[in-house]
Amino acid sequence: MSEKKKELRSRHWYGGTHKDGFIHRSWMKNQGFPDHVFDGRPIIGICNTWSELTPCNSHLRILAEGVKRGVWEAGGFPVEFPVSSLGETQMRPTAMLFRNLLAMDVEEAIRAHGIDGVVLLGGCDKTTPGQLMGAASVDLPTIVVSSGPMLNGKWKGKDIGSGTDVWKFSEAVRAGEMSMQEFMAAESGMSRSPGVCMTMGTATTMASIVEAMGLSLPTNAALPAVDARRMALAHMTGKRIVEMVHEDLRLSKILTKKNFENGIVANAAVGGSTNAVVHLLAIAGRAGVDLCLDDFDRVGGQVPCIVNCMPSGKYLIEDLAYAGGLPAVMNRIQHLLHADAPTVFGLPISKYWAGADVYNDDVIRPLDNPLRAAAGIRVLKGNLAPNGAVIKPSAASEHLLSHEGPAFVFETIEELKAKIDDPDLPVTEDTILVLKGCGPKGYPGMAEVGNMPIPRRLVEKGVRDMVRISDARMSGTAFGTVVLHVSPEANAGGPLAIVRTGDRIRLDAMNGELNLLVSEEEFASRMAAWQPPEQKWQRGYYKLYYDTVLQADKGADLDFLVGKSGSEVQRESH
Ligand code: FES
Repeated sequence: MSEKKKELRSRHWYGGTHKDGFIHRSWMKNQGFPDHVFDGRPIIGICNTWSELTPCNSHLRILAEGVKRGVWEAGGFPVEFPVSSLGETQMRPTAMLFRNLLAMDVEEAIRAHGIDGVVLLGGCDKTTPGQLMGAASVDLPTIVVSSGPMLNGKWKGKDIGSGTDVWKFSEAVRAGEMSMQEFMAAESGMSRSPGVCMTMGTATTMASIVEAMGLSLPTNAALPAVDARRMALAHMTGKRIVEMVHEDLRLSKILTKKNFENGIVANAAVGGSTNAVVHLLAIAGRAGVDLCLDDFDRVGGQVPCIVNCMPSGKYLIEDLAYAGGLPAVMNRIQHLLHADAPTVFGLPISKYWAGADVYNDDVIRPLDNPLRAAAGIRVLKGNLAPNGAVIKPSAASEHLLSHEGPAFVFETIEELKAKIDDPDLPVTEDTILVLKGCGPKGYPGMAEVGNMPIPRRLVEKGVRDMVRISDARMSGTAFGTVVLHVSPEANAGGPLAIVRTGDRIRLDAMNGELNLLVSEEEFASRMAAWQPPEQKWQRGYYKLYYDTVLQADKGADLDFLVGKSGSEVQRESH
């Protein structure tokens, strides 16, 4: 047995001649594994978020077979294991409430088992960050294989995009421009293959960031879920993870500040989701990388959006794949990236874009004709958001990015739902809609409700966008002049809690300002009078979450999960 094989972590489980070694091997053999697979070869865990209740990840057991082929071919021993899965469209009150729970599950599952490297199979919005957070706290060699997008939605001879067209259709129904029959018929055409939302929603945003950070093989972000080349990519990933174990190329060697900065640049260039902000902050917290909200402004603020995909543009991710995918995007913005950032290959990230051509200049725009210049997520500060808020200019209306108007306040999401279609709601297109109680603690889970519907009486007049401000998130597929992630949130005593209907608010997105225009004395007296809401959650995960969740500007992780514990486990099980 070589010295290298002796060092493998899995030998502590499967290499012993004592009773524990017997127990570990013998029970695994009930699956038909022969003696020789326990000979000291790398054991690769395939961490799978497959679930029929996560439709975006429902094909991941097939991709796991591709990974296994590659692991066997490279001389490893693949073992697939499930972790909890988070279906964005299926969970209440919001899948985000459970991202940190998934991260705990992933962390402990990896650490507890005798594996040497991990392939993370995820896709739907929270599965990718949840898996990376957990894996970062253990720090084994790790690669991501993403679900890949659904094929383009098709309806009435047109391409329709996940999420983005749902928001448009539901507004059209409210405006009387679309029948309920048509609305229902569009459902089937929108989701017609396995895979994640095929707009630049949070899933493909995170997959793009993963690729730009060198955490997956090239082309992982955009290849359709059902494209045979994704299966081949899974196979190649299986081969590579075995080599990474031999090289001891751990996740911490790839999660450097440069890689995070490349992720921020890529997010801006693809017109990615605001959700990436909370997820990258949380992953950085696990990895011990000093990333803060202002880095998104500093690094991404001036980056042009060159990917013309919904919700910022008009195409879908299948089109992005055929136009060259992320390697071609990175090639176009290479002057903005750290070319020497490390990757899962142990090679610099510049190898990912070397020779990558663009095949459609309208899908991946040239730098002299971007979809929008200076399109990165902007961080807003001011007396209304002392610790920050975010806005996505590429999905906003240009004329509203600098706007002052009177607030109309909804104290809860229930109040909003009850009143928004009131024909007498006293609002105009200049009104700023404010929603409270939807942050990490308030909802709980910081739901994707920040893109409040436009009041019906304004929709009927043709208004399609207004300034909206909340402590919530919004779907990566959504659009509008929407200020999100206000921190601290209302339920944690942030100034959002003291806004009243009729107060004037000023937004200056491109200068990073968000202010409540009341006198200092009035502001101070309202803050002094604020009372924290009653803590409703007395048991279970909700209580743990509520008591320990961090605010959005810190990534909304649980405070005791920040950092890492490594991979060592001292004691045997028997
Ligand atoms: Fe799963 Fe959009 S709902 S990726």
